[in-house]
Order: sequence, then C-alpha cells, then structure tokens
Amino acid sequence: MSVDFESLSGDLHRLKDLALAEIAKAADPAALDQLQIQYLGKKGDLTAVLRGIGALPAEDRPRVGAVANEIGEAVKTALSERGLELRSVVQAQRLAAESVDVTLPGRTVPRGTLHPIPETIAAIAEVFGQFGFVVYEGPEVEDDLTNFQMLNIAPDHPARDLWDTLYVDIPGHLLRTHTSPGQIRVMQSTKPPIRALLPGRCFRYEAVDASHGFEFFQVEGLMVDEGTSMADLKGLLDEFAHALFGPRKTRFRPGYYPFTEPSVAFDVECVVCGGVGCPACSKTGWMTILGAGMVHPVVLQYGGIDPERYQGFAFGMGVERISNLRHAVPDLRYYLENDLRFLEQFR
Ligand code: DAH
Repeated sequence: MSVDFESLSGDLHRLKDLALAEIAKAADPAALDQLQIQYLGKKGDLTAVLRGIGALPAEDRPRVGAVANEIGEAVKTALSERGLELRSVVQAQRLAAESVDVTLPGRTVPRGTLHPIPETIAAIAEVFGQFGFVVYEGPEVEDDLTNFQMLNIAPDHPARDLWDTLYVDIPGHLLRTHTSPGQIRVMQSTKPPIRALLPGRCFRYEAVDASHGFEFFQVEGLMVDEGTSMADLKGLLDEFAHALFGPRKTRFRPGYYPFTEPSVAFDVECVVCGGVGCPACSKTGWMTILGAGMVHPVVLQYGGIDPERYQGFAFGMGVERISNLRHAVPDLRYYLENDLRFLEQFR
C-alpha cells in the first residue's frame, strides 16, 4: 500500500472535521464519552490513521506526527468545551427542575381553639383551684345506687322525675343524670378534709330546646371538713361569681335537693341588665347559676363519713349556662353541633 504525506494528512483533516461535527452535535455527556473513545481511544480512528505513519518516508514522519498531534489536541479541546457546555445545560435543567421559590408564602397551619365547654370548665376549675379544690372525674355510666339512692333519692322518690335518664343494658346502670354521684365516689375513696371539683358530661331524657339538652355538662363541687358551714359556702360562691362575672350582687334562695339540707339556689345579679330586669332574667333582675347546700347527713354516711364529726357543702352547676352568660350564647344546641362558624368565634 502506498502512503504519502498528502493523503495521510488529508485523512487526518477529514477525520478532524468529522470528529468536530459529531462533537458539536453530541446531545449529552455520555455521547461525548463515546466519541472520545471512538476518536482518541487506543482502538480509535486517529490511532488507526497513525498506524500508516510507519509506511512513510522517514523525513515525512515528524510532519505527520505534528499534524496528528495538532488534530488530537483540537479534538480534545472540542470534547472538553462541548463537555462544559453540556454540563452547564444539564445543570441548568436540574436547577430549573429542582428550584424552590423561597419567596412564596408558607402554608399556614390551621390552629384550633378550645371548645367553649372545656374552656369554661377550665375557667371554673381555675377559680376553685385557688381555694384548694382538686379536679376528679366520675364515670358517665353510673349505677342507680350511686346516681340516686346514695344521694338520698329512693327508687320511688318523686324527685326522680327531674332526673329521668337513658338506661343501658347492664342491669342497675344508667347514664348519669348529674355529676353529684361523683361526691359519693370521692368520699368513699378519700378521707376528709375533702375539696373536690367534678366536671363531666351528663344525660337526661329531655325534650331538646334552647335551654335543655339530653346531653350536657356539669361541674360539681364538694367540701367536707370539721366545722364546714353555710357561711363558707356563701363566701366561696361569691368569690366564684365575682371571678367569672365581675363585682355583682349575689343571693341565696331556699331550694330543694334530696342530697342537701338546707338546699339553696345561688343567684347572681343579671349579667345582661345589671339587676334592672330584662327578658334574659325574666324581669327578675337575678339569674340562677347553680344549686347548692349542706351535704345531707345520710349522704355523708353513704360516703363513709361520720356526720357527727364532719360537715360538708356541695354545689352543682350547668356548664352551658355559665358559658352562655360569659359569651352571650343564646342557645345551648350550638355547643354540640360542631359548626365552625360558631366555634371559630372563640379564638
Ligand atoms: N345535681 C343537681 C342537678 O343536677 C345540682 C346540684 C344541686 C348539685 C345541689 C349539688 C347540690 O351538689 O348541692 O340539678
């Protein structure tokens, strides 16, 4: 095979043009790697052309070598430049794909609020807590004995009409009609002095309207100690009323409950009209906020407490009523409807 400088150098230049054209068209770094092997590798095209050098006359060899070096350099440079180009394209694409707009406003975490019933229970517990009252809880499914009989309400007692309830399948059990049975449970499980607060859910067989629910909340209070008196009860309840409703007049009215003797209703000067008389207080100027009294000796005995040595007072209030007065809520049905338009007003 006859090889001369001209033809070899021509081959080399064609190779170079071809290589540069392909490098320019390479679509990604992997294609470039392929081209590098194809042209500059040990078994590559440039090497193949250079094998012809041996057949040249000795004086031509350095010239071809110089051309080959120059072309090899040109291909290398083209490879690395195109490589840079492609890498910056790839990087730009990645940056675009992974970009995060840190100037966008963050997602707001919706914040809940306490429901007005537990909020009101907490406010009540806070006041009595300052007088040493500790919070207890009794069961929602009670037995007849504790809900009624040990509270001095015999099975045929007419007062049972007031506390008719929903009965459960377990004989002798019912949904508690008030938190008062908690008094018995606390007395049976602790020794005087006792200062207990018992918040909880209660149930009654009741036609539902704006002021009656078949499901509602009460907070019960019980204090048992030596020398506990009506005066202590009145002083404590005054402090409570003032803490929740401001400096208003209060009064005791005679009342009746089987488990207290004497029994009273505790009234606060109407929080709407201030005592003048308005529809909210049925024109009396007073609002009844709870029932109370001195714990009946029989009830103390059921609680395992000696009525000759200890006296106690108790009180019980409806949480919805207290919450209505604090927040001017007109209808207790709102509390259990889960309507956000109502609930969001307590933020
Ligand atoms: N348990 C009564 C009711 O549900 C409220 C009550 C009245 C509780 C007088 C008491 C009390 O502790 O002394 O109507």
